[in-house]
Amino acid sequence: MTRLIGVRKKNIAIFISGRGSNLKNLIKISRKKKSIFNISLVVSNNLKAKGLTLAKKYKIAKKIFDYNNLVYSEIKILDELDKYKIELICLAGFMKILTKNFIVKFNGKIINMHPSLLPKYKGLNTHQRAIDNNEKFAGCTVHFVNSKLDSGKIIIQKKVRIFKNDNSEKLAKRVLKQEHILYPKAVKKVLSNL
Ligand code: GRF
Repeated sequence: MTRLIGVRKKNIAIFISGRGSNLKNLIKISRKKKSIFNISLVVSNNLKAKGLTLAKKYKIAKKIFDYNNLVYSEIKILDELDKYKIELICLAGFMKILTKNFIVKFNGKIINMHPSLLPKYKGLNTHQRAIDNNEKFAGCTVHFVNSKLDSGKIIIQKKVRIFKNDNSEKLAKRVLKQEHILYPKAVKKVLSNL
């Protein structure tokens, strides 16, 4: 917990598995004067996640769990969340499914960014599936995490037009831009209601 001129910044943890562009964007927002949150911990299941270099660069604590033993890893993660007084977990490209037990322990305080207009296109390859189905819109959604994949209550969504000449790479790029606008908004919204 950090105090800045009377404003208590809330501690959040970001869980990643790969690139970390959402992490980078959230770090940038968190370092603004008026930010209401502080990224205190980065968790990854992947030692080689590119996003981990950001934790080093911005001097944020990072913990890597190999998940060979899921239950043990989650117990250890819960310890770390406690140690860093984490009030909200943001999944950002985190490729492991959390157990029901873990989700219940952090009830209502885990959110995820998903690259589709949920409830459509849960799971992987969302953009290609949307293109293949001749959808007019793709998009992104931030939702609460419950024990069913990509099925928790929706917090906020943004539509992105699919063009005739789109392929999944082009579309993913445009959606990612919107993810970077949407995720900080969702974090602020959820934290304001905690
Ligand atoms: C994003 O497209 C997000 O919607 C999905 O995984 C991707 C993570 O990208 N859940 P990054 O690691 O934040 O760059």
